Amino acid sequence: MMDLFSEIENPERDEIIALRKELEEQNYKYYVLNAPTMSDREFDEKMRRLQDLEKRYPDMDDPKSPTKHVGSDLTKKSGFATITHRYPMLSLANTYSREEVVDWLNKLPADAEICCELKYDGLSISLWYEDGQLTHAVTRGDGTRGDDVIDNIKTIANIPWTIDNKASIELRGEILLPWANFEKLNKEREAQEEPLFANPRNAASGTLKLQDPREVARRGLTSYLYYMLGDNLPEDNHFDRLQAAKRWGFPISDAVRVCHGIDEVMAFINYWDVERKNLPVATDGIVLKVNNIAQQTELGYTAKTPRWAIAYKFAAERQQTTLRKITYQVGRTGVITPVANLDPIQLSGTVVQRATLHNEDFIRQLGIEEGDQVWVEKGGEIIPKIVAKVTNSLNSKLSTLNFIKTCPECGTPLVRVEGEAAWRCPNDITCPPQIKGKMEHFVSRKAMNIDGLGEETIDLLFEQNLLHSIADIYHLTHEDLAKQERLGNKSADNILAGIEKSKTVPWHRVLFALGIRMVGETTAKKIARVFPSIDQLQWATKEQLTAIEDVGDQIAENIIAYFNDIRNLDIVRQLQEAGVTLASESENSGTAGNSGSQLVGKTIVISGTFEHHSREEYKEMIEAHGGKNSGSVSSKTSFILAGENMGPEKRKKAEQLGIALVSEDEFLQMINYVGES
Ligand code: IVH
Repeated sequence: MMDLFSEIENPERDEIIALRKELEEQNYKYYVLNAPTMSDREFDEKMRRLQDLEKRYPDMDDPKSPTKHVGSDLTKKSGFATITHRYPMLSLANTYSREEVVDWLNKLPADAEICCELKYDGLSISLWYEDGQLTHAVTRGDGTRGDDVIDNIKTIANIPWTIDNKASIELRGEILLPWANFEKLNKEREAQEEPLFANPRNAASGTLKLQDPREVARRGLTSYLYYMLGDNLPEDNHFDRLQAAKRWGFPISDAVRVCHGIDEVMAFINYWDVERKNLPVATDGIVLKVNNIAQQTELGYTAKTPRWAIAYKFAAERQQTTLRKITYQVGRTGVITPVANLDPIQLSGTVVQRATLHNEDFIRQLGIEEGDQVWVEKGGEIIPKIVAKVTNSLNSKLSTLNFIKTCPECGTPLVRVEGEAAWRCPNDITCPPQIKGKMEHFVSRKAMNIDGLGEETIDLLFEQNLLHSIADIYHLTHEDLAKQERLGNKSADNILAGIEKSKTVPWHRVLFALGIRMVGETTAKKIARVFPSIDQLQWATKEQLTAIEDVGDQIAENIIAYFNDIRNLDIVRQLQEAGVTLASESENSGTAGNSGSQLVGKTIVISGTFEHHSREEYKEMIEAHGGKNSGSVSSKTSFILAGENMGPEKRKKAEQLGIALVSEDEFLQMINYVGES
């Protein structure tokens, strides 16, 4: 039965609320996180729908609606000075339809000249010059205020720091990361287990917000400028102003034309729709601007966009094909990615045969299964995406997909952590792609930085059974390496020198290199500050770990799980034996000794007979390092110091409760024992 409220409820009103919320969230993901989860096309379509609905329901007007303001990239703690723009930094009205371009052109004064430009897909910047000196470089921010990122902008080679004519002007343009640099950056990030940037725009935006201009310089941004602002500007039209800026040394694109009438504008669009694919930077459309400044002033602005300009955006290319088979890839962190194997199709000039299906939920949402006809798209992202199933109402059926239950590489049953989208193989010790991944991460630049040991060499040595874990890197001999056809004597020398040098890499980087899940570079640094040696870290409690900034429950649990696995303890022991730095300098030189705090909060059971010290001596050592001795194994036991012939009852109980057995040697290392053992 319908109640009174449902009768007067209006789904379109609800839709307005829902769309506002969704678009604000997407703005945040796009501008602040640089990680959008919606395609530009979908975003633009939803924005369009919201605009239409708001027109129909004027009583629901809200000045805070995303239709009324530009998406903001401001963050509370950006670390940059926030500056108020002299002139608001607006967006552009956009369309994917040529008919709408024609409508827009038809509404302009009959004599209007149109300046046609490429729409560069980066992030906008406002450059302020005072008496010819670059004084500020401000991001769009919320359109009214932006971040001054001048130190980062000064690393961009084609932006002049001074102009000879001593002008006080403002130039606006786009900051871009060329395709080649974007691909290089993502390769590095993949090796470091950092999230990849979906496209050059996100990468450029993430880069410009870094607090490290040297890293910004290394990534190689570039720019194109397209708009001049200020008092007493030269020329009375946009095109001539751009040419003046070019003479003063600013990066102005050559792809700018003054067009007269629809045919010339369409010819420009048609030409660049094809030719843009050969450019070194990303473009996502064409910008049409009324050329004459007086006419621009006449046309004016809406709250968000100038009326004198419009962007025609290129649609992502879409093709229909058959999904033949779903296969599964195991990533180097154990994440299982389902992959669509397709009947080959041509998309944006390349043959596409495979597309990512992300995860199980993605497949279920699309409702697809093997044999279906699907739409594949290649948009701003370089990786092709399946965007929809080609619906066939006569034959529609629910997805009967059976997502795999065991790892295709090692057969281990897969697990899915609550709240995570991905299934994962938990066997990070012997699952081949995971061990190789761990090794690649271990040797990478920001970790142990071992020159010469790249992905290919690791693959090769792994296939030859010379590498099973990161510790094996320190067991490699000259002979092992030199006998490889691809390497030879000289490379073997280089690799061994790199391995030797890596032993001096500081403790916090070694901790990062170990590849404990979610322990990134910065987190590792913070952890190493609190736990200046691995001996202390391996007994850290969850409370101690979560007290560290940036370490939440999940990271703490990952660290504890890492050190609870005897196979990892074995790897750590081997690294220690090899002479890898596992403590910070002060820790190495100062506090190591026969008393310490390594066992604070630990309850330890001693069992069996020992080679180097008596049981009594071990009991004393435990106390001298802050630990507690206990005679019986219980859930409170932290670990068992296990010697030869350990009592069978104790062993059984330890197994039942999952309590680690620590050997005599491991124990002595754990407490940094100095003396004869
Ligand atoms: S003109 C007041 N010209 O597109 C008009 N914008 O979607 C100022 N963009 O925020 C913009 N290429 O970041 C203009 N040739 C071009 C452009 C361009 C890229 C960007 C710009 C703007 C966004 C709007």
